[in-house]
Amino acid sequence: MPDQVGPDPRHFNAHAAVYDRGRPPYPQVLWDRLGELRVLGAGTRVVELGAGSGQATGPMLRAGATVTAVEPGPALAALLKQRWPEVIVYLGTAEAVVLPDAAFDLAVVATAIHWFDLPVVLPKLHRTVVPGGHLAVCRTAFGNPAAPLTAFRERVSQIAARRTPVPSGSTPGELDTASWARRLTASGHFVTTHVEEFAWTVELTTAQVKDLFTTFSNWTAAEVEEAACAVEDLGGMVLEHYLTPLILMRRAAGAH
Ligand SMILES: C[S@@+](CC[C@H](N)C(=O)[O-])C[C@H]1O[C@@H](n2cnc3c(N)ncnc32)[C@H](O)[C@@H]1O
Repeated sequence: MPDQVGPDPRHFNAHAAVYDRGRPPYPQVLWDRLGELRVLGAGTRVVELGAGSGQATGPMLRAGATVTAVEPGPALAALLKQRWPEVIVYLGTAEAVVLPDAAFDLAVVATAIHWFDLPVVLPKLHRTVVPGGHLAVCRTAFGNPAAPLTAFRERVSQIAARRTPVPSGSTPGELDTASWARRLTASGHFVTTHVEEFAWTVELTTAQVKDLFTTFSNWTAAEVEEAACAVEDLGGMVLEHYLTPLILMRRAAGAH
């Protein structure tokens, strides 16, 4: 079983339409970097796990890749398939899905790796990625500790501070990129080749904050309302500083 406790991964599917319109895309520089590193481009065969409604799928298709998506949420998977009928979608978890051997050049996990049972998923990805192929893991941290503290982020911290802390087991924090890289390579199936963090900003209206925060699996409806009120108090628009770490790994030769 994954060691994530507390939040429920079914949350995303339960709010599929809000997720689809509320989650901002990844910064284009991330996809450009994968292109420069020659792991993503025309004809790249990608398997994407935990694809949601396609926040990472679209840019990879635009880069010329073919994408096979794995997503357990039926409403999210339906939105993805409706938008990009050319994508093969497996409805199921990364743990349960059966993937063909040596069929993909690149496996991608965008803001979903923390939900996976790694001892099950990493050997599977090793089998399904071709020799010399890659695994790219990225996620968006909604808040950048290195950026100036905004009035809105202070209000967000006050809301979060009132919660009873949920034990996180042995899962590293979302911005503990070095620990994630160690954890993802410890089994010997993949070797880290590139680590980078992309800082970016986005302006959000009250309605956009309400949508985005509704998608967070650890936020209650009352807390989302409070965050939306904070935006209203601050003039109806806030500037947010986010961070997207990327861990790129090459498939190790010889592991099983
Ligand atoms: C935060 S969302 C990320 C979705 C999308 N990749 C993105 O970048 O916005 C996490 C996704 O992982 C999916 N998920 C959760 N547990 C999973 C599992 N065990 N196997 C595959 N996907 C899973 C959820 O259904 C959800 O779509």
